[in-house]
Amino acid sequence: MQLGRNEPCWCGSGKKYKNCHLAFDQKIGSIKDQGHVVPSHVMIKTEEQIAGIRESGKINTAILDYVASKIRPGISTQEIDNWVAAKTKEYGAIAAPLNYEGFPKSVCTSINDQVCHGIPSPYDILKSGDIINVDCTTIYNGYYADASRMFLIGNVDPKAKQLVEDVYEAVQIGLREVKPWRFLGDMGSAINEFCKSKGYSVVVEIGGHGCGIDFHEEPWVSYTSKPGTEMLMVPGMSFTIEPMVNMGRHDIYTDADNNWTVYTEDGSLSAQWEIHVVVTEDGAEVLSY
Ligand code: MF3
Ligand code: CO
Ligand code: CO
Repeated sequence: MQLGRNEPCWCGSGKKYKNCHLAFDQKIGSIKDQGHVVPSHVMIKTEEQIAGIRESGKINTAILDYVASKIRPGISTQEIDNWVAAKTKEYGAIAAPLNYEGFPKSVCTSINDQVCHGIPSPYDILKSGDIINVDCTTIYNGYYADASRMFLIGNVDPKAKQLVEDVYEAVQIGLREVKPWRFLGDMGSAINEFCKSKGYSVVVEIGGHGCGIDFHEEPWVSYTSKPGTEMLMVPGMSFTIEPMVNMGRHDIYTDADNNWTVYTEDGSLSAQWEIHVVVTEDGAEVLSY
């Protein structure tokens, strides 16, 4: 539907379309005409929505800080779930994973060769040498924020520690590529090339996602993409950078018993960091980490 020049802008600013997002939409339209994939209006957050996601993001980051302060050898992943559930409640927020498409816990905990979506359990005890991803998603005042971190448990093998540090750097390299009027493929390829240069492989089938009004929104975000491909980035788009990086081959499989936990096919270690960003006028703002 075409909006009239004098009608109120779709962004909710209250301004006339011609004085607000008309030129912006025309710029997107001309890039679309060149054959690129461009975002729809629902993927472009208003200032009010960004402020809401930012608040949720602060809580999500604080919950991860809390986990960081307590995680140690000897605890079970169920204890991490208990911490996340309790802290989330304390903030008056909701843990998005709980009951999401049947997921049974408040947080994902993925150890060693688990790639993602590990389910907390009283039987999984962290031991010295483990590496673990803790992935938290918070809903506050209806807004979603999603981030994850790796933790080194006790004395970790230097190669495993290097993997964790390199994947952290990969995310920072990707973040530097998040700029308006560039493409998600610029970011994805920067991450992939860096990881390949270190001898790792990036998981192909599972990527990042738009996030903020819902848990998983469009666009789907690849970290094995090519420069100049995938969706155009414009100010107001909010999504995650969360590459899953394997020490060995990129192949993965899903646990047939719980239908959630993803493992590396070859049993090699996997690491992932996730940050939640919004595209700004001149780059990106990190909303949760
Ligand atoms: N937080 C994960 C992500 O980064 C999704 C977890 S879905 C769950 O997209 F159901 F396992 F929680
Ligand atoms: Co995510
Ligand atoms: Co996540």
